[in-house]
Formats: sequence, C-alpha cells, structure tokens
Amino acid sequence: MEIKRKNFLSTIVSLCLIGAICGSALANDVLPSLDFSSRVEETFSKETADGWDDKSKFVTYHGVKNPITDEVMMNIKDGMSILDVGCGTGKLVSKIDKKIEGGNLVGLDISGDMIKHAKSKAFTGNNKVDFIADDFMKHDFNDKFDIIIFSYVLHHMSDPAQALKYAKSLLADGGIILFSVPGSNYLSETFEPEELPSRYTLKEMDEIVNEAGLYCMTACRNDFLMTFDSYERYIDYLKSIGTYQKISGYTDKAWTDEFNKKILEKFGKTPYITGEYLTYACKDKSNILG
Ligand SMILES: C[S@@+](CC[C@H](N)C(=O)[O-])C[C@H]1O[C@@H](n2cnc3c(N)ncnc32)[C@H](O)[C@@H]1O
Repeated sequence: MEIKRKNFLSTIVSLCLIGAICGSALANDVLPSLDFSSRVEETFSKETADGWDDKSKFVTYHGVKNPITDEVMMNIKDGMSILDVGCGTGKLVSKIDKKIEGGNLVGLDISGDMIKHAKSKAFTGNNKVDFIADDFMKHDFNDKFDIIIFSYVLHHMSDPAQALKYAKSLLADGGIILFSVPGSNYLSETFEPEELPSRYTLKEMDEIVNEAGLYCMTACRNDFLMTFDSYERYIDYLKSIGTYQKISGYTDKAWTDEFNKKILEKFGKTPYITGEYLTYACKDKSNILG
C-alpha cells in the first residue's frame, strides 16, 4: 500500500514538473511560436500603430525622404481604382483622396490597430474609400486596380515575389504596381548585412520583379541621411518602424546587451545614419509583350 502511495505521489510530482517546464517554455516562446504573418501583425499593432504618424518627430532628414509618395502622386488620375497594400494609418490614401475625384480607394493592412487609425481620418467625400484589416496574401478581392502600391511593405512580407505576383493578378488592363523598399545601404553604419535582412540591391530587386512576371518601367535609387539627437532616439525610431522587431524575427525578444553595445559604439562614431530606398514602377510583362 505504502509503495503504491509513493508511486502515485512521484507520478504527480513528475507530471507537475513536466507541466512547469512546458508552461515556461510556452510563456517564453509565445511570439516565436506564432506564424510569420501573426508576428508581423503583432509588431505593427498597439503602440506601433498608435505612434505611427508621429514616429519621425525626432529624426532630421537630409534629402528625399519619401520617394514613393512622389511616384504615386505623378501617376494617379481621377476615376482610378487604387489599392494601398500595408496602408498603415492611411496617410497615403488620405493624400490621394485630396488630389483626385471619382476614384475607388482601398487601403488594406494586416494590423487591425493601423486600420482603426486609418478609418478615423477625415476624407473629402470625393472618392469611395474603404479600409480592410487582413493579410494581403489571404484576401480575396472583388475589384481590379489601376494602381497597386506597396509603400515600405514588401520587405516585411515572407515572400515579396509571391506578393508581387498576387498583386499582378489584381491589375486592371494597363495597371501598374508602385513600390519602395530599403536598399542595401539602408542603416549600413550600424547593421551588418546578415543582422538586418531584406535590404536589396537594384540587381536583387530586379530579379524579384522578374520572378513575379513584371516588367520594370522605372527603378530609382535614393540616398538620404538621417540625424538623431542621441542613440536612445535612434533605438526608439528603430522600434517605432518595426526594424528592431524584424531583427529578432518579429519577436519581442530584446536585443542582447552585447548587441546593443555594438550598435551604440557604431552609432557614436557616425554623425548621421544612411537611408536608401529603391522605388519601382512595374507592369504585367505579358501585357507589354502582347
Ligand atoms: C513599414 S509599415 C508601412 C506603412 C505605410 N505603408 C507607410 O508607408 O507608412 C509596413 C506595413 O505593412 C503592413 N503589412 C505587413 N505585412 C502585411 C501583409 N501580409 N498584409 C497586409 N499588410 C501587411 C504592416 O502591418 C505595416 O502597417
């Protein structure tokens, strides 16, 4: 009887131990265990979404800060159907709405919090404006679009070529895709190539565009410089744009002290941080070839 009781007790203790070990592993790994899209969604929710329109307040820009905005403004016309993928808080949709009439403007973002901010913006009433909270790759669209925009979004997607291919299938006749991504020189003072993935050379991006079956009409490379008052402001900026999270695979794992120290040392040596964007305008290649 005594032996049976001992066995019973040791089984209970073992089960509790296994439970505790699994529980703590789960608690430490909640974000990493989410799938890629859910981690990206989490990264661009809550404080990131709330602070999005304010994120640049401590940055001084030297040079062209937002080449994609000029590209979009040059191409839009009254009556167009326009999709802004990863529209964030709807700033670009709002700019487009002020410039054209009779258009169908759709902003889509995986982050419901971003979309909440977008919906709260005031629009002119001159265009039909819709905002959708969903993963672009999973969303079924009823419309075709004259312009599809990815403003600093493709580098946060697991497969940019597939995203462009899907966008291509949503283009109306003669439609165009406009996008901007970070170039390989972006933040190069503080990050080694392997530390921060998805910064592209023109050649690498040309290959992705080609793989998606697109024809590149223009590709432009812009350098700009950013200055920050302090290392802390720079780190805050990296967090506010999702870069800090991207480095750890969109988890909330803090950088190690050692990594932070390395960044601090590099930051201390440079009076500025380099920005570099590649901006593309593309068409469906099969339409060009007829
Ligand atoms: C760097 S922000 C850019 C936001 C906005 N386009 C801008 O220029 O300010 C990237 C945005 O893409 C969104 N995003 C990332 N992956 C997405 C996906 N698969 N489908 C829809 N939106 C996505 C994020 O939620 C985030 O709002």
